[in-house]
Amino acid sequence: MSRRRRIYEGKAKVLFEGPEPGTLIQYFKDDATAFNNQKKGIITGKGVLNNRISEYLMVRLEQIGIPTHFVRRLNMREQLIREVEIIPIEVVVRNVAAGSLCKRFGITEGTALPRSIVEYYLKKDELGDPLVTEEHITAFGWASPQDLDDMFNMALRINDFLVGLFMGVGIRLVDFKVEFGRLYTQDDMRVVLADEISPDSCRLWDVDTNEVMDKDRFRRDMGNVEQAYQEVARRLGVLSESGEQREIKQPKISA
Ligand code: TMP
Repeated sequence: MSRRRRIYEGKAKVLFEGPEPGTLIQYFKDDATAFNNQKKGIITGKGVLNNRISEYLMVRLEQIGIPTHFVRRLNMREQLIREVEIIPIEVVVRNVAAGSLCKRFGITEGTALPRSIVEYYLKKDELGDPLVTEEHITAFGWASPQDLDDMFNMALRINDFLVGLFMGVGIRLVDFKVEFGRLYTQDDMRVVLADEISPDSCRLWDVDTNEVMDKDRFRRDMGNVEQAYQEVARRLGVLSESGEQREIKQPKISA
């Protein structure tokens, strides 16, 4: 791990001071938590895979014009990012009913939604990240109406792009969570995609078998968690270059 000054430690990542002002190093840990930190564990190799997967997805999103905090991957577990002011809202986009949506409204898991649904959750562990409305967000100043507009539009564009990208490798993008940050330049500010996009923050089901290929395997003690993350990385084609990755065995997810 880097010997640089530690700026912030989250549940799955650590942020270190970057090599130049305005940059940070994002280190991906193997630690996994669920249910607001009540369940804790290690998913061996997760940090390496999420670093790669998130790099790949952020680079592809940049290519279609979504601004992100990502600069470049530095090594197996670290990437260089631009320092942003994180907006304390988790933006969730859903295509298929799963997780808390099913619980809240009594909908059967796997039901296709009539259209993509965007939800906002306040990023506050002590409160268990409650669902909030745009009214709450703007009234309490967590984000401005312009920030919200940018986040909403980017979240839908990200969804449209990622649905197609994952479908191309036989994966259904059920839902995902993204975070945004304010990137300040000399005389300007813009909202950019931040944090990570990985099987930690998405629900990914095999198109043919509905096999779960994401953190729900950890949340629900389904087993073969590492293998599922490896399979996502393999299908995206990000498991081919380095030595460490060649050592990863060909994944097989049992039913
Ligand atoms: P949910 O159904 O539990 O509300 O989760 C929706 C999506 O957001 C799912 O893809 C998992 C992701 N998520 C996170 O990334 N972090 C979280 O803390 C939670 C609750 C969900």
